[in-house]
Amino acid sequence: MSKDAPSENAENTTGATGKTGPEPSRRFCVAPMMDWTTPQYRYLARLLSRHTLLYTEMVTTGALIHGDTERFLHHNPAEYPLALQLGGSDAGELAHCARLAEQFGFSEVNLNVGCPSDRVQNNMIGACLMGHPDKVAEAVSAMIAATSLPVTVKHRIGINGRESWDDLCEFVDKVSAAGCRTFIVHARIAVLEGLSPKENRDVPPLKYDWVYRLKQKYPHLEIIINGGIKTFEECHEHLEHTDGVMLGREAYHNPWLLAGVDSEFFGDEAPTASRHDALRAMYPFIESELERGVFLSHISRHLLGLFHGIPGGRQFRRYISENAHKSGAGLEVIQTALEKVREPAQPVLTEATASA
Ligand SMILES: Cc1cc2nc3c(=O)[nH]c(=O)nc-3n(C[C@H](O)[C@H](O)[C@H](O)COP(=O)(O)O)c2cc1C
Repeated sequence: MSKDAPSENAENTTGATGKTGPEPSRRFCVAPMMDWTTPQYRYLARLLSRHTLLYTEMVTTGALIHGDTERFLHHNPAEYPLALQLGGSDAGELAHCARLAEQFGFSEVNLNVGCPSDRVQNNMIGACLMGHPDKVAEAVSAMIAATSLPVTVKHRIGINGRESWDDLCEFVDKVSAAGCRTFIVHARIAVLEGLSPKENRDVPPLKYDWVYRLKQKYPHLEIIINGGIKTFEECHEHLEHTDGVMLGREAYHNPWLLAGVDSEFFGDEAPTASRHDALRAMYPFIESELERGVFLSHISRHLLGLFHGIPGGRQFRRYISENAHKSGAGLEVIQTALEKVREPAQPVLTEATASA
């Protein structure tokens, strides 16, 4: 592991012993995103920020219980602090999976009450659960009893037909009475019929003021705001009213943003001085992933945003897109792509904030 690789002894590391570390800070989080926040993306994210709380993609209880548990929970201790997001509604199954989360060393277990996809609705997973606050409360209570990890909930401000302020408060009242003290709130409703999951991330209007009101009404709860946040300036504004911010798409498409997080929000030094250094620090990891049979394209697609918006970035992306899928493609594809981007003579610590 290179000297720049994320530390396996990071402060919140829980390790294979299952011993839990301190509660992770949720001041700045990267959102759970299916197919995007894979172990490979998370490794890159951790090279750029030591303090950001990372979330896995959602894993359903059915997949964990009946599928290849090891594969679904696979991660690198270097990624800590790392929260496992679960999809499900059966209290017993969720409790079982919360126990697994602890055994596998995760820092937090999170329940998805925000995903609007039809596929998950049919199994009572995701945003449809906002219509069943008692069921969520029962599940959360069982999860809390099963693990010493923090149990958190990520939800919407409502769903169509249950979108009043009182509906939202009923949800938070019941779930907090069951013991949940951290609510990650995507500040728009989900429309369960007629909008695709993608449209459900853009079409219903954002109502940040509702999330601020939640914090005012429930000052003892930790309220994290999510949805449409792109810049550090916006983050600071939200942090005046809430306890933390969660960024999804911007953190994925422009990962270099994360390189400014430790200094901007945690008073710590940035772990890496340049995009080039960060990518080179990925090399040992890329090689070990290739050795365990991961295709280069499954790693490289998460690197495409690293040179977002800077000269040579397009050539970098094009070279990877044209070559990473070829049979036998290895680390040399990434090395050659990197040569397409001129290395700055000086460290570029301020770039993350400048482009943010
Ligand atoms: C590709 C993609 C996959 C997503 N998968 C999940 C998921 O597995 N679980 C979840 O709670 N939210 C998921 N989301 C929603 C995000 O976590 C987040 O709530 C949403 O993108 C709004 O934040 P943003 O505007 O910062 O992207 C996904 C979003 C995207 C773009």
